[in-house]
Amino acid sequence: MSDKPFRWRTIVEVAAISIVIYIVLGAPGLKTPSHIESTSEQDVPIARARAESLVYPDWKDLKCSKHGVDMHIFSTQPLVIYIDGFLSGDEVEHLVDISEGKWQKSTVFNAGVETEDEAVRKSEKALIPRDDVVQCIEQRALSIQGWPKDTFIERLWTQRYNVSGHYSFHYDWSTATKEAMRVSTFMVYLKADCEGGGTNFPRLRMPDDPKWCRYIQCGKDAGGEGVTFKAKEGNAIFWMNFDSERRGYKEVIHAGMPVTKGTKIGLNIWSWYQKGHMAEL
Ligand SMILES: *[C@@H]1O[C@H](CO)[C@@H](O)[C@H](O)[C@H]1NC(C)=O
Repeated sequence: MSDKPFRWRTIVEVAAISIVIYIVLGAPGLKTPSHIESTSEQDVPIARARAESLVYPDWKDLKCSKHGVDMHIFSTQPLVIYIDGFLSGDEVEHLVDISEGKWQKSTVFNAGVETEDEAVRKSEKALIPRDDVVQCIEQRALSIQGWPKDTFIERLWTQRYNVSGHYSFHYDWSTATKEAMRVSTFMVYLKADCEGGGTNFPRLRMPDDPKWCRYIQCGKDAGGEGVTFKAKEGNAIFWMNFDSERRGYKEVIHAGMPVTKGTKIGLNIWSWYQKGHMAEL
């Protein structure tokens, strides 16, 4: 009996020391497995390549036409918004045109190393020049989010998926610190002359209202777990990657389903928080 309190203390001390060792070791097991790492993972604080890729649109002289969109909140926790008509038909054509001649194989980052891995991701990507149309789209993405502080747009790439093109389950957030993180994603469909190619979120729940079926696969087409958004030209899905404690939302894991016929072209718009960074216009 007499040594009981002592034993308790030992257990508590051992537990505390174990936790410290675990943290010092970098919390093994809590890391995102390499196969679902972001495609553009960089070490934080800001890597040079990242700094060069962060842009901020010109707000003073750029004239953007008024743009009407039809937004639907899909979920508030995490915030997921469906945006019908995010891009006009002309903008879509333009983005496809300026991608021409720039297509290159998409890559993935595996333990920080850039590789081609068609089992994970099979598509082509094109870095598009920042002309006025593109900057107006950058502006729109920031406006919708309410111009968050120290938040920039990562240079835009279009993505082309031919038959069997796909992107397996992943998060867009990877490493994040207090100073740097990929806060949000707009997944935009440019061209959807295809079958398949929807975007599946296995951890989101099917909404009750069948009005959603114009945007998501329903009934016997529902396919797979969770929710699959159909590829629809000009439309976008927006979501936040982190909660207020800067923890990545597990619910936003997603995959680009294989294209079974035709071609899909997509556009990712990622907003990156970089404390104190000054981007060139
Ligand atoms: C994908 O399809 C386009 C035509 O739609 C073609 O020009 C391109 O070469 C194809 N890419 C690959 C990797 O097969």
